[in-house]
Amino acid sequence: MKAVYITEHGGIEKLLSGELPEPVPHGNEVLIRVRACGVNYVDLWVRRGLPFLRIKYPFVLGQEIAGEVVAAGDLTRDVSAGMRVVLNAGVSCGQCEPCLSGRDHHCSHYLLLGKNLSGGYAGFVKVPQVNLVPLPDGVAWEAAASIPVSFCTAWNMLFDTAQLQPGESVLIHAGGSGLGSAAIQLARLAGATVITTANSEQKLEKAAALGAQYLINYRQKDFLHEVRRITKKRGVDVVIEHIGEEVWERSLLCLTTGGRLVTCGATSGYQAKTDLRHVFFRHLRIMGATSASKAVLFKIMRLLEAGKIQPVLDRVLPLGDAREAHRVLEERQQFGKVVLAPE
Ligand SMILES: NC(=O)c1ccc[n+]([C@@H]2O[C@H](COP(=O)([O-])OP(=O)(O)OC[C@H]3O[C@@H](n4cnc5c(N)ncnc54)[C@H](OP(=O)(O)O)[C@@H]3O)[C@@H](O)[C@H]2O)c1
Ligand SMILES: [Zn+2]
Repeated sequence: MKAVYITEHGGIEKLLSGELPEPVPHGNEVLIRVRACGVNYVDLWVRRGLPFLRIKYPFVLGQEIAGEVVAAGDLTRDVSAGMRVVLNAGVSCGQCEPCLSGRDHHCSHYLLLGKNLSGGYAGFVKVPQVNLVPLPDGVAWEAAASIPVSFCTAWNMLFDTAQLQPGESVLIHAGGSGLGSAAIQLARLAGATVITTANSEQKLEKAAALGAQYLINYRQKDFLHEVRRITKKRGVDVVIEHIGEEVWERSLLCLTTGGRLVTCGATSGYQAKTDLRHVFFRHLRIMGATSASKAVLFKIMRLLEAGKIQPVLDRVLPLGDAREAHRVLEERQQFGKVVLAPE
């Protein structure tokens, strides 16, 4: 099959195009023909290398996959060739206490497609059947592939972790990121007031179209000053944080007393400084989140089918242009998602 893979960590030039053997599904596994695969910032981390990440080369990136079933192992049930599906990226053991409590993303054996297991920058991928979620008729492959990682993580951060309530206010960093553009929509659906940031007026206009009510061009204005002005010095109830070092200290200062900050990433660096006095004197809660329970994707798909959320597609590129896709993310040119489509 055609695939884009790495044989060592490094820059964009380490993404290689070529032929790899097609995976063979066994037992509870299903073979999926990849129709589209979303590109996430985490793909850049995997390509560059992470301290505790051990992968087997050649390694295929890509976490956000939509496609159709072509074959299934002998332990699968009710799965047939041609089924249109989106994939949950997280593979868990299915038998530990977190898994059986609906917190499969807390499983100590948790592995991610495109990070630990072969991913979607390829013609085919195999996954356990439990990772399939039916794709509603009429949703295009490229649209579907811009959903699972961004929306599920945003859902976990806003609802499962921060427990966002109607009427609360939330600061969502980088409204043009895959994560931010999903979080804006989900927070608005929940009846919250959304403040977001971006590096340009064009991105902010698009964030407004998704529902963000207050827009901060952080290249022109200090976002902390703006949040204080917008909230009349009260601060926001929740901050959705994934930028890290560059914004961490000011993000904590954006919170109202008793406010919650949820972090899922550290794009600008992870050695952030925290003045503990703000945390204890103002009763702040700092929480981490990664991925989401598999069940979340069913809810997201229902919202998509009902037209309550929309995929935010920046551009679709042929799989062979994976280097260009990584360049776009590295240079922060996109609004929403860049998606790769195997030819
Ligand atoms: N833990 C999880 O499960 C999980 C899941 C999804 C994402 N994440 C994390 O969340 C972050 C966003 O992911 P994504 O896929 O949504 O990313 P993305 O679509 O590539 O967006 C990243 C955006 O962050 C903004 N940004 C601000 N400061 C930046 C800096 N110093 N360097 C680079 N970008 C900067 C840029 O927008 P502007 O230029 O407009 O500011 C950039 O376009 C990543 O750190 C990712 O690892 C974690
Ligand atoms: Zn488990």
